[in-house]
Amino acid sequence: MPALTTTSDGFLLDGEPFRIVSGAMHYFRVHPAQWTDRLRKARLMGLNTIETYVPWNLHQPDPDGPVVLDGLLDLPRYLRLAHAEGLHVLLRPGPFICAEWDGGGLPSWLTADPDIRLRSSDTRFTDAFDRYLDRLLPALLPHMAASGGPVIAVQVENEYGAYGNDTAYLKHLELALSSRGVEELLFTCDQADPAHLAAGALPGTLATATFGSRVAPSLARLREHRPEGPLMCAEFWIGWFDHWGEPHHVRDTADAAADLDALLAAGASVNIYMFHGGTNFAFTNGANHDHAYSPIVTSYDYDAPLTESGDPGPKYHAFREVIARHAPVPDKPAPAPAPKLPHTEVEFGRRAPLLPYAHALSESVRSDLPATMDELGLRAGYALYRTTVPEAGDGLLCFPGGVGDRAQVFLDGAPVGVLERERHEETLPVRVPRAGAVLDVLVENMGGVNYGARIGAPKGLLGPVDLNGTVLHGWDCHPLPLDDLSAVPFTPSASTTDSVPAFHHGTFGVTVPADTFLALPGWTKGQAWVNGFHLGRYWNRGPQRTLYVPSPVLRPGSNDLVLLELQATTGRRALLTDTPDLGPVVP
Ligand code: GLA
Repeated sequence: MPALTTTSDGFLLDGEPFRIVSGAMHYFRVHPAQWTDRLRKARLMGLNTIETYVPWNLHQPDPDGPVVLDGLLDLPRYLRLAHAEGLHVLLRPGPFICAEWDGGGLPSWLTADPDIRLRSSDTRFTDAFDRYLDRLLPALLPHMAASGGPVIAVQVENEYGAYGNDTAYLKHLELALSSRGVEELLFTCDQADPAHLAAGALPGTLATATFGSRVAPSLARLREHRPEGPLMCAEFWIGWFDHWGEPHHVRDTADAAADLDALLAAGASVNIYMFHGGTNFAFTNGANHDHAYSPIVTSYDYDAPLTESGDPGPKYHAFREVIARHAPVPDKPAPAPAPKLPHTEVEFGRRAPLLPYAHALSESVRSDLPATMDELGLRAGYALYRTTVPEAGDGLLCFPGGVGDRAQVFLDGAPVGVLERERHEETLPVRVPRAGAVLDVLVENMGGVNYGARIGAPKGLLGPVDLNGTVLHGWDCHPLPLDDLSAVPFTPSASTTDSVPAFHHGTFGVTVPADTFLALPGWTKGQAWVNGFHLGRYWNRGPQRTLYVPSPVLRPGSNDLVLLELQATTGRRALLTDTPDLGPVVP
């Protein structure tokens, strides 16, 4: 029998009445040296449980390789730390996790095959997930409650009713978990809508709902769907995420606290989404694609109780008070904000332009027509495509298949324009300076769609490119995952103001490492690394204006900052500040 069981209106844990007061915190969005701190702060807010997704795409980068379980992906360690902190765990292993995460957590080696029906009982999909579970679960089973560990419940799929109605698929997943030794309570979660619940729930398995407001009607819908059993909001949205080019989302603290109070007063269990959002480090952010492609920013602060840098914000204190009305809260002072690095300026002394040195970073693949990033075996990052143009003169450069997701075009090294999937751009007027001019197209994967029908949409150059109707042939395609910058041929240079894509290297001194926020006034768009740790994307389009630098990536003494600036910069320096700037809020 599982440790967590259900009654006609609630839960029992080891036979005793139990209410889940949980908060979401994705280990893969928080530096591992900070996990203990964040878990402790969860307990101090009054949470008895922590919830996390498990991102298949990162844990199994290679379909034939082992699962990756170290560093930021050391889920067994995260579970041990949660247990040591006295927290229970809700585990949500997918396969699909949504979560504003690259591809919704589905590996690109899987989504690259357009024939596979994702999130269905297509055996090519379920077999791949089963093979992953075969490798993942042995590492997790010791952390299940049945073995004395913290995991008390495991979610099957994620809001499946918003996507499909293949009940056989959900049944397969349920059996895939239980037949591999998962004895804990299984549950599904769906938006609080009758049609979603009908399509996404499984008879005989706990159904939960996701919502952020309208507490009474949402719980009523869940009760209509399930006349008996615990009421649980598996994602109580207390904030929201941001897209590039849109305002920053915040939710009023009093409003969120009142809804939390109503939820708990109704006797429901809750998982606050998010308790601590963290960061989409490196190339891990997802994207939405409804009418237009719209990528998610680097910060996943979510306006959550614990800010991106792990400090208690207004919701932390308000939620703690609300929880204390309904459940025990530790009789300890609320945590104080962590110290921040003093204001620091970083000068850049070395530089390396990208286009002439792409060959130093990766071997190119020669192909007649441009290969997509999937065809290049590239999961994330950039690809540089190079060919020559036979004739000089004015013309229209066409990308009829589109670009995935943002292409910068150069002729003989000079920038001639940008095309964005977001803006449905597919043509560019150009002046070719000479016959035989070199055409470079640098394409950025801005993040894989994580919700809806377009998951797995290809990246890179998506089909032939033509100039005035004549298709260009003979391309060198350079995959640029940028996961190792050791080969970047930096040379001393005082100038940062060229308008070509270039790496810039600077150093700064630190006495005592502490959290800080990287501000890049005058810089346009690119990537940032501190001491080799990939902080993620920056873009002056906003709303996000600073990047979080977790203190564990800093060291006493000299530290390195590397930027890949794609466009132009008027900035000669970068700033490390003590205050995040996530941009102007939604009016
Ligand atoms: C849904 C999904 C989550 C997340 C939220 C929005 O509820 O299940 O993974 O995408 O929306 O943040």
